[in-house]
Parts: sequence; C-alpha cells; structure tokens
Amino acid sequence: MLSLLDLITRSLPPAPWSEGDNIPWDEPAFSQRMLNEHLAQDHDLASRRLSLIDSQVSRLIETSIPAAPARVLDLACGPGLYLHRIAAAGHSGVGIDFSPASIDHARSEADAAGYDLIYHHDDLRTADFGSGFDTILLLYGQINVFRRTEALKILTKAHAALVPGGKLVLEPQTFSHIRLTGQAPPVWSSHESGLFGADPHLTLTESSWYEASAVTTQRFYIVDAATGAVERHALSSEAYTDEQLTNTLNDAGFAEVTHRPSLTGEETDDGLSVVVCARTA
Ligand SMILES: C[S@@+](CC[C@H](N)C(=O)[O-])C[C@H]1O[C@@H](n2cnc3c(N)ncnc32)[C@H](O)[C@@H]1O
Repeated sequence: MLSLLDLITRSLPPAPWSEGDNIPWDEPAFSQRMLNEHLAQDHDLASRRLSLIDSQVSRLIETSIPAAPARVLDLACGPGLYLHRIAAAGHSGVGIDFSPASIDHARSEADAAGYDLIYHHDDLRTADFGSGFDTILLLYGQINVFRRTEALKILTKAHAALVPGGKLVLEPQTFSHIRLTGQAPPVWSSHESGLFGADPHLTLTESSWYEASAVTTQRFYIVDAATGAVERHALSSEAYTDEQLTNTLNDAGFAEVTHRPSLTGEETDDGLSVVVCARTA
C-alpha cells in the first residue's frame, strides 16, 4: 500500500510497463465491480451496449463464421456477450478470460440457456487455446494491452488453434486513439463508490504518450477517503500502424490480412477501433 507522500513524490512520467501491465481485471472484488460496468446499458466502457453487440454479431455471423455448427473461440471474452449470441445461432465455442466474475457470469448464463459453450478462467499469455476452431475473436482493443512480444505469442497460438482456412477477427484500437489517450491531461475525480473501490475515494488519472515506442501508459492513483491510503494501477497500450499489424499477423503465420472499419462494417461505430481479419493458409 502506498501513502500520500508516495503520490506526491511519484515519477513523472513513469516508464511504460514499469508500474504494472494492466488494471486488476483478475482481482475478485475488482472483477465483480467491472462486471457491473460490462452489463451497464448507459455506456460502452467495458463492453458495448447489447443493441450494438446484436448488430456486430449478426454481421460476424454473415461474414466471418461458417454455416452452423461452427466452433468459435473468443479470447478475452468477458461475460460472454458475443459467444452467447453466436451460440443462439447454432454454433458452439470456448471463451477464455481471466476475470473471475465475468467467467462465472458467462458460465451461469450459458448453462441456463443450454448453450454448447465452455468457459475457461485463464490468462491469454499462458493459456492453452486448444485446436479445431473455425473462427477466433479478439475484440474491443485487447490486443493492444499486451507487450508486442506477448501479442505475437497470442496471435501465434491463435493461428495454431484454427482449422486450415480458419479466420481470426481482431479488433485493435486505432493508432490515433491510443496516441490521443496518452496525450490527455491529468484528471482528478471523486467517487462515493466506483470501479476502483466500493468506498468513497479520489482518483488521479495521468496519461503519457511515448512517441519513440508508440506506447501510451495510463496511471491511476486511488486515494481512500477514510484512511488516505493510496493504491496505484497502470495500463500500457501499444499502438500499431496498419502495416505493423499486417506484419505482426504475417509473423504469426496468417495470410490474407484484410482491414474493415468496424465489426458492423459501418464507418461510424465509435472511431476508436478498426477490424483486421486474417486467415490460416
Ligand atoms: C474491454 S473487456 C472486453 C470483453 C469482451 N471482449 C467484450 O467486448 O465484451 C477486456 C477483457 O479482457 C480481459 N483480459 C485482459 N487481459 C487479459 C489476459 N491477460 N488474459 C485473459 N483475459 C484478459 C479482461 O478480463 C476483460 O474481460
């Protein structure tokens, strides 16, 4: 646990990745609070709203999943909002995520609906992805939160888990969105309760953009109102140009890399991410 003095004497800016890889998605209490954000229908911060996911999944089924029954793997699946809609269309699948609350939620919803889905609570960096999938999804900008070497390993494992001719659907954040996030000014905010704590707290969010390495680091200081105790989390995101993404996918073994503006095919989803599809040979 840090103190207010640690906050005052903090390094500015922090070196990328030096203060942790990601916000604590895998911590049980945090993951329970995050689950509420995934399921909230008044914002798109953790998952898109269900009306948009419905259109995204319809388009995915038309363009990227073979005729049912196909096998689909959703990497960083969260509470299963995509896989459940895919299973309702007659497909089977596997979801992997390291948020315990999201995986519990996804499993109980799938069991209640009788879907042919298996959920694994695991870290994509070390998980065995299995094999024999027709389509693999890695959505909502998650490829960017891994260091480049880890991202390449995850994409290489995805390639090995697909059938010949199988398809990867990747939804990276745009280069400009990651750069703009890193160039945002610091923000203090106050919360009676929120994502970073159930009790009253202040949050300082600081962002840095590192031009040479094309990385943004966001750092969050959480100050407990009752005790003044300070917690810190950091999240770094790697920005890729289109060409770098294509090269990374080729290095992972993929061919036929194509780009499209969004999961629905429209230009106007949110402007924050794009879609890159690739096939195994
Ligand atoms: C922005 S959410 C998106 C969830 C889901 N794809 C969706 O759009 O509803 C990111 C997800 O990535 C998961 N995640 C982040 N890092 C992970 C890792 N190293 N291994 C497994 N899951 C991870 C988080 O737990 C979270 O559920």
